[in-house]
Amino acid sequence: MMERTKPWSKIVSWEKKGKSLLLIGSEDLKIEVINEKIIRFHFSKNKAWRHNYSFAIEKDLPKIDFTVEEKEENIILSTEILKVVINKNIPNIKIYTKEDELIHSDYKNYGYAKYKDKVFSFKNFEKEEAFLGLGEKMGGLNKKGKKYINWNTDDPHHYPHTDPLYQSHPFFLAWNSEFSYGIFFDNTFRTYFNLGEESSKYYYFYADNGELDYYFIYGPTPKEVIENYTLLTGRYYMPPLFALGYQQSKWGYKNKEMLMDIARKFREKDIPCDVLYMDIDHMDGFRVFTFDEERFPNIKNMIEDLNNMGFKIVPIVDPGVKKDINYEIYREGVEKDFFCRRSTGEIYVGYVWPGECAFPDFTKKEVRDWWGEKQKRLTEAGVSGIWNDMNEPSSFSHPMDIFSRSWERHNTFWGIFSDHNDEIFYDKTFPKDVVHGEKGEFTHDEIHNVYGLLMAKASYEGWRRGNPNVRPLIITRAGFSGVQKYSAVWTGDNKSWWEHLYISIPMLQNLGISGVPFIGADVGGFGLDSSPELFVRWIELGIFYPFFRNHSELNTRSQEPWAFSKEVEEISKEYIKLRYRLIPYFYSLFWEAKEKGIPLIRSLILEFPNDKEAIHNYDEFLLGPFILVAPIYQEGVRARVVYLPEGLWYDFWEGKIYKGPDYISIKAPLDKIPIFIREGSIIPLWEPQNYIGEKKQETLEILIYPGKGEFTYYEDDGISWDYEKGIYNLIKFKIDERSFEIKYIHKEYNSDRKWFKVRYLDKEFVIEDKDHIKIKL
Ligand code: GLC
Repeated sequence: MMERTKPWSKIVSWEKKGKSLLLIGSEDLKIEVINEKIIRFHFSKNKAWRHNYSFAIEKDLPKIDFTVEEKEENIILSTEILKVVINKNIPNIKIYTKEDELIHSDYKNYGYAKYKDKVFSFKNFEKEEAFLGLGEKMGGLNKKGKKYINWNTDDPHHYPHTDPLYQSHPFFLAWNSEFSYGIFFDNTFRTYFNLGEESSKYYYFYADNGELDYYFIYGPTPKEVIENYTLLTGRYYMPPLFALGYQQSKWGYKNKEMLMDIARKFREKDIPCDVLYMDIDHMDGFRVFTFDEERFPNIKNMIEDLNNMGFKIVPIVDPGVKKDINYEIYREGVEKDFFCRRSTGEIYVGYVWPGECAFPDFTKKEVRDWWGEKQKRLTEAGVSGIWNDMNEPSSFSHPMDIFSRSWERHNTFWGIFSDHNDEIFYDKTFPKDVVHGEKGEFTHDEIHNVYGLLMAKASYEGWRRGNPNVRPLIITRAGFSGVQKYSAVWTGDNKSWWEHLYISIPMLQNLGISGVPFIGADVGGFGLDSSPELFVRWIELGIFYPFFRNHSELNTRSQEPWAFSKEVEEISKEYIKLRYRLIPYFYSLFWEAKEKGIPLIRSLILEFPNDKEAIHNYDEFLLGPFILVAPIYQEGVRARVVYLPEGLWYDFWEGKIYKGPDYISIKAPLDKIPIFIREGSIIPLWEPQNYIGEKKQETLEILIYPGKGEFTYYEDDGISWDYEKGIYNLIKFKIDERSFEIKYIHKEYNSDRKWFKVRYLDKEFVIEDKDHIKIKL
């Protein structure tokens, strides 16, 4: 492909203008330094910059100063940590550490290249052993040798090679056992990443249109790359505590009786559950923000009853607004000019569940505000969150598609130079001529990938205005880099296939590396019928998903934990209870995600960045720093091989000690998922309860394991935004060979706790809650 593009030529002059370096050539390049480790490279297109806004980076970034010197051939920009060497004659950028170690470089003078409207960047392979990130993608953890497209796509029938899917994250992390760096390509058009599929000399990324504007982010550790990437694109807030509980959903909970019955069964059967979802069944003729009064009469009372039983309710919201002149939202949208239009001027009409629909143009602030305001109809009924769906945007090309869902698409086509094939990407979304913005200034090409992000933003901001002191559970199916500022993400429509259970393991690791911590896949599988064995294995894995929801499609078999057999029910119950025990550990990890962007589900290399073996072992993962989970993802399997990185590891079930690095073989009967605890672990636990808040947690149990380790425990009221005003506690836990220490480092929240119960091997210490405690082990 490279040969067909036209590269950047000779740099004729340069100039340092305030805190940017301007290089003048056939195209101009503006370089800015965000901090010692983040450098922005922004190329002009046809000698101008139009892209002076970003949908992903929504704040004014700080810029720091740097030094520039000119040598015979090169211009050299230096920060405290990095050195950027730019060859003037054959324009080429190389990035070194201060110690002159080469980290990254352009391929020849193809660091910027063009073909028609498309902009490219070709990079040399240096030491990149693996490419991670890229959000929600099929395939394994390491994307090296593969190619991917970002174009948000509703594809419930995805196979191992299907691409793209629901989300777009044009960000990757390049890893080798010595250092890591990341690149965020801030371009919302359809983007492509060819990470060595085409050549063993170079890799490249490009966009169909827009400008070449990217951020180089140095580690050296993967965690530092993620921390700096989320400094740019933002981090998730503290979820409400209930959102960490088990969640039950099904398309087809079609009336009040059914929903109440499900709720009662959870309580009767003593299976913890915090959230019940209301899918499209709840709407009046699929009109968004309405309730069907026949099937769900007195909605407010129903939700109140459910709340009193300890359940929170989250309804679905689709962007498609039914074209019905008697429907207020549609009428208002038309009157106020809030819907997307075609270039010819008429409102674009697509087909979703209600039939003909118009779609809000979320690029306009007033439209987002209006949508957020309409959400009040749901919040006033008592819901606790919003489930944003179909926001790729998904729009069926033919009304029959709604019912058959049997569309066949061929979206893996890689037809970059055959422009007529572009149409193939559009058949389940808006046509190419839809425009957005106040004056129609954006084409759909530019907005498509951020439509879901902007809908989630409308939802989050509307919620914060309308319910100022209650945190919501907002989830979204589509998204773009930065979506984590607003929402949790689930991976869309999977199937009750072992392959989809399996793929969730690397997919969620890569979404986490892409800055999105609150993630999960539909447990049990959405489409088709789950087998009892698949369901059990999925629950065993699902308790470690940050977002833990069982959801399934209309007309599939019942998929509640009791719907299979007594055995399945008992195993599921035990695991869901284990999840509830782990909630204080999850919550503290969410605090780390909020502070630094570090995901909860961690690839082994996040904790063991120098381990060359760890990169291959992505069919296991770490939950936070301490818990290694090795799921069973094949039918009939009753044992598996687990890779244990360096150190001692404790079998969670049996206590047996293993020494890593090593591969071990471990038994996994149906009721056991292999779990290993790292030496020096500190894991806070609660008493199980039927729902968050059912029991006062007066004792915090702390499970500690021999070795050296630290953990910062976080707590607040779990409900309000008061933590933003400093009303929370942070407690430092520290273990070494001889002692265990508990020390408050921030104490502004009045918790229910009276006791710490520390469990160490076969010993147990019960101590009154005090500011500083030291226990001799
Ligand atoms: C989409 C969603 C799915 C939902 C269905 C009906 O397929 O991804 O979760 O159940 O629409 O609303």
